[in-house]
Amino acid sequence: MTGSSGMLAGKVVIVTGAGSGIGRAAALLFAREGARVGIMERDATSGTEVTELIAQQGGEALFCQADVAQEEQVSAAVDAVVARFGRLDGAFNNAGVEMSNQLVPDLSTPDWQRVIDINLTGVFLCMRHQTRAMAQDGGAIVNMSSGDGIIGQPHAADYVASKHGVIGLTRAASCEARYTKVRVNALLPGLILTPMVEERLFANPAFEAQVAPMAERHSIGRFGKPEDVAEAALWLLCDRSAFINGALLTVDGGYTAR
Ligand SMILES: NC(=O)c1ccc[n+]([C@@H]2O[C@H](COP(=O)([O-])OP(=O)(O)OC[C@H]3O[C@@H](n4cnc5c(N)ncnc54)[C@H](O)[C@@H]3O)[C@@H](O)[C@H]2O)c1
Repeated sequence: MTGSSGMLAGKVVIVTGAGSGIGRAAALLFAREGARVGIMERDATSGTEVTELIAQQGGEALFCQADVAQEEQVSAAVDAVVARFGRLDGAFNNAGVEMSNQLVPDLSTPDWQRVIDINLTGVFLCMRHQTRAMAQDGGAIVNMSSGDGIIGQPHAADYVASKHGVIGLTRAASCEARYTKVRVNALLPGLILTPMVEERLFANPAFEAQVAPMAERHSIGRFGKPEDVAEAALWLLCDRSAFINGALLTVDGGYTAR
């Protein structure tokens, strides 16, 4: 389903961190649902691969290599998408990194700053340039928070603070919808089986003790799949959610409800 049909038919949508995990599933889904997709990713290999996969499934995508924490790169990427496709209607600000896995007394200032720069300031920089690009017709933005945006975790002060920050940023920006014509919502996933989790967090001894209690709290009885989160982002970006603004949508199998 591309181009003229699908939930995002006719729309141009940016996905950040689209090379892996949730971003990758979202970019592929959005393209299948008719969007032309701007692939904003700092890793050239995975970004190119997803762009080619979209072309193979009959869709249209543009790869823009960009680090979301670098404003010039963000600005250039948004400009490139608008130059190629003529407009911007939506964005899924998904790019992010995991915690540095330190207790607060051991968490270095550079480690703290790196996580905040990517997970929080990166979302802000993307929103600023995306919102400007949507000035004429308005649009929708979905920001990636986490269950850690509303609860705490040990060894994760940098990550938890960044994801709480994304919620504040989302709420504040949603209050500006009458000026910007842009709806802004946030997703709060539980544990989703992506490379961030399976290849890095599960391999870290500091995280090991948390896995069983976390599994118990996902009341649906399994961890999430990238596609579970991509489906929620799709709905928040399409016109069927036209009255949803400033929402915090958990996609966590009941994790934060317990
Ligand atoms: N996996 C989970 O359990 C989970 C739960 C809640 C929230 N999240 C959030 O979802 C988002 C995606 O996570 P994932 O699990 O798919 O991770 P992932 O590591 O599989 O994918 C993240 C992607 O973002 C890219 N990226 C990282 N830093 C970037 C930067 N500075 N600029 C541009 N691209 C960058 C990476 O190259 C990678 O392609 C993150 O924001 C993460 O915090 C994940």
